[in-house]
Amino acid sequence: MVKLARDEQEMLDGKQGRAKQRAMELLVQYADALGAERFVDTNNVHLFVGFHPYPEVVTPRDGDELASKFLLDTDERIEVDYVKTFNTTHIWAMDLDRWQVMEAPRELHELMEILREYSIRIGISLTATCTPYQVGNVPTRGEHCAWTESSAVPFCNAVLGARTNTEGAHSAFAAALTGKVPLSGFHIDENRLGTHLINVEVDVNNVMEWYLLGYYGGEACQLAVPVYNLVHKMVPNISMLKGMNSAEASSGGIMMYHIVGITPEAPTLDAAFGGRKPQVTLNYGKAERRKTYENLNCAKDEKVDLVNIGCPHYSLEQLRDVAKLLDGRKVHENVTLWIWTAYQLKAIADRNGYTDIITKAGAHLMTDSCPLNTNLFPGGTKVVATDSAKHAHYAPAIGGVEVWFGNMEECIDAAVTGKWRGELK
Ligand code: F3S
Repeated sequence: MVKLARDEQEMLDGKQGRAKQRAMELLVQYADALGAERFVDTNNVHLFVGFHPYPEVVTPRDGDELASKFLLDTDERIEVDYVKTFNTTHIWAMDLDRWQVMEAPRELHELMEILREYSIRIGISLTATCTPYQVGNVPTRGEHCAWTESSAVPFCNAVLGARTNTEGAHSAFAAALTGKVPLSGFHIDENRLGTHLINVEVDVNNVMEWYLLGYYGGEACQLAVPVYNLVHKMVPNISMLKGMNSAEASSGGIMMYHIVGITPEAPTLDAAFGGRKPQVTLNYGKAERRKTYENLNCAKDEKVDLVNIGCPHYSLEQLRDVAKLLDGRKVHENVTLWIWTAYQLKAIADRNGYTDIITKAGAHLMTDSCPLNTNLFPGGTKVVATDSAKHAHYAPAIGGVEVWFGNMEECIDAAVTGKWRGELK
């Protein structure tokens, strides 16, 4: 049984209100299931609030009732005053401003509006992105966090050196209300050490290469902690690591990894393993890279209906690059081009003129959401092109579509010509 500190016991006893009491009830069950001995304080939560694509099963039209059902797991109507911690929110069920471009149902949009008002009232920050670290949520090394979103979790752990497990909607909301998270999993030093060694024998010097490496690593290591040892040293940037993290969390469930010389806890190979020997050693060479690429490309028809890029949400660097590629060009009349980013980065894209270029080309710069999580693909979509291994992994099963995977240039070429001409060089 988890041991409670005095403030935790007070919350559980209802001395700080019913909302915190319910949140502590959930957290105690969760901590016991995890075998956690105690809680640690957190002031950094990435919430999962505005993503409920099932309006037909939701009868209440009241923010408190909705949150009680979806986030506090009770039919009792519990009013929340104000959440305790700093927080950001994962994507919502639609672009909150351009929901009609997505052909989102009006009923679902109404639900989002109720949740939007509710969230603002109780102190939730409406970032609506899978990349909180791109919009001001940058925890420091060692900071205990409670983050949802599988692609953001390894970024938090392995790039920033902060600490989180992959939280669900309930546990994250409870953490935001109480400022507590069970001391378990990747909050504990020992669990963060490497288990599997991957010798990376090929160059990984662009975003697509990092997607491929991450997809291989996730598939090979599943829930373990891979240590990537780059034979040809290079320093990856945020766009590369963002893509890689989303890929490892798709083909597998990687939450923590090390890149020797890059991850804060892995200055050396020995440090990454804490002096232990790897349980498994793998080599990622040309053959593994080719096989990974082929696994991600399941389409047969070269004619493309939708080009979907920005999964995870594009960085400012990627928005600049895509605007340059589209400048003076036109999207093919039979193709839809959706580019996804965070609302806050779109504001900069607006100011920099990128949005104008993208719109003039006939593409849509979208925010807050993505078609994969909402299953809102444009009507009649059969073949999708993407530069995201995560999107390529899930789209066939979720959207019933065929997928081409390549780099940004190949995706823009497909959007303009209507045909896929990508290849692994
Ligand atoms: Fe983000 Fe949606 Fe991809 S949530 S990581 S754009 S599947």
